[in-house]
Amino acid sequence: MERIGLGLIGFGTVGTGVVKVLEENRDVIKERLGVELSIRRIACRDRTRKRAVEVNPDVLTTSAEEVLKDPGVSIVVELVGGTERAREFVIGAIEEGKHVVTANKALLSEYGREVFGLATEKGVDVGFEASVGGGIPVIKALKEGLCANRIEGITGIINGTANYILTRMTEEGGRFEDVLKDAQKKGYAEADPTYDVEGIDTAHKLAILASMAFGTWIELDDIYTEGIGRITELDVKLAGELGYRIKLLAIAKCERDGVEARVHPTMIPTGHPLSTVRGVYNAVHIYGNAVGSVMLYGRGAGMMPTASAVVSDIMDIARNIAKGVTARVPPLGYIQQSMKELKVRPVDYIEVPYYLRFSAIDRPGVLSRISGVFGAHNISIASVIQKGRDIGGAVPLVITTHHAREKELRTALQEIEKLDVVTAEPLYIRIEECGGEDG
Ligand code: NDP
Ligand code: HSE
Repeated sequence: MERIGLGLIGFGTVGTGVVKVLEENRDVIKERLGVELSIRRIACRDRTRKRAVEVNPDVLTTSAEEVLKDPGVSIVVELVGGTERAREFVIGAIEEGKHVVTANKALLSEYGREVFGLATEKGVDVGFEASVGGGIPVIKALKEGLCANRIEGITGIINGTANYILTRMTEEGGRFEDVLKDAQKKGYAEADPTYDVEGIDTAHKLAILASMAFGTWIELDDIYTEGIGRITELDVKLAGELGYRIKLLAIAKCERDGVEARVHPTMIPTGHPLSTVRGVYNAVHIYGNAVGSVMLYGRGAGMMPTASAVVSDIMDIARNIAKGVTARVPPLGYIQQSMKELKVRPVDYIEVPYYLRFSAIDRPGVLSRISGVFGAHNISIASVIQKGRDIGGAVPLVITTHHAREKELRTALQEIEKLDVVTAEPLYIRIEECGGEDG
């Protein structure tokens, strides 16, 4: 039976998982492939460290270069993380004519254009299923399963840490800071949670999904990105009272006048399937013009789910090698000549309903001053809730609006913030009325 040589660079959480999956599922993998996968080299920093799987010590090296140069390695699996070294390894592998599998969304969102361009030029495959949604096969779905569709929109919960924190705040209450600390203690949030809670990790993943969906290259800098750090217990509670849940959403839409790509906390109706995605789970809702709504759900991270995606990429490439074909499906699912330069519309131009929370002095006439500013900006108020009573003191005042243009809304809020009856910077959360199964 033909053997295909693998070289891993990175032997941490995902690297260990890949070795485990390849060992534990050896039989079924062989039955499906008809060829044998053999790990020839694994590069890491510390060869002496005890790992969760046993490997032949001769396979281990501290030199990634050895993996890249090994003539027996046909597929290089980059599982190091970060961008600069990872870029060197991935580009180095492609230059050597090797196929690449990576789980690295930070790398692809920053250097994807270069990586995919070079891979196309060299006629090698690049698999990146694990870069978005961990074990969920969303990349394959966009590239192949839904390729007959014009993709109109993608809405996803694609960061488990942020979803875990928002779920805990929704179900148990508690301040963002306290829930985050507890999540770190339990191992659900990293010691440095910046990328996860500030929406940066979600933006990395959205850049990949939106590029594939619309056949363009979405630059990270064009994605409006806002994290969950300002969401309070009260917002989460009021969202529930208004019939919504707050989720950190990745949203991409392709409309006649351009593409929308944004990441921010969003209120979605409790009837929408995404609102039921709890804890560290991920889900991606895709709307295709032929298929309608499709929702994929599963574990977005972790050793074995992520390894499941990495090994599926390895198997895909191994099948191509065995059949003597490469680059059968272009990396983003569109042939190079068809890739378009689409403009991402600045967030200023979106039109959605808003939830707004003010801290306002509790006395007659305050609401009319605030609503007067909205009226002057042609923003229509849908509902008003005052929480509590504190005559002469500050109370939370919550207003929801009908659809309003973000630019107008921000201008109005800047004016309102200057009113002497408003005591703090207002908070606003966008509402997506993506109700029902086909929303
Ligand atoms: P880890 O930090 O657990 O592992 C990184 C590995 O890279 C370690 O084995 C480390 O070696 C090795 N390494 C670092 N620098 C070098 C170098 N210069 N040369 C050779 N080896 C090096 O990361 P993860 O496994 O968690 O993540 C890997 C990738 O997968 C990242 O891109 C991540 O974003 C992505 N990913 C991770 C998920 C997860 O659940 N963990 C989910 C989805 C994607 P040593 O062990 O000796 O220190
Ligand atoms: N840090 C990510 C998350 C996992 O919390 O979802 C890797 O993509």
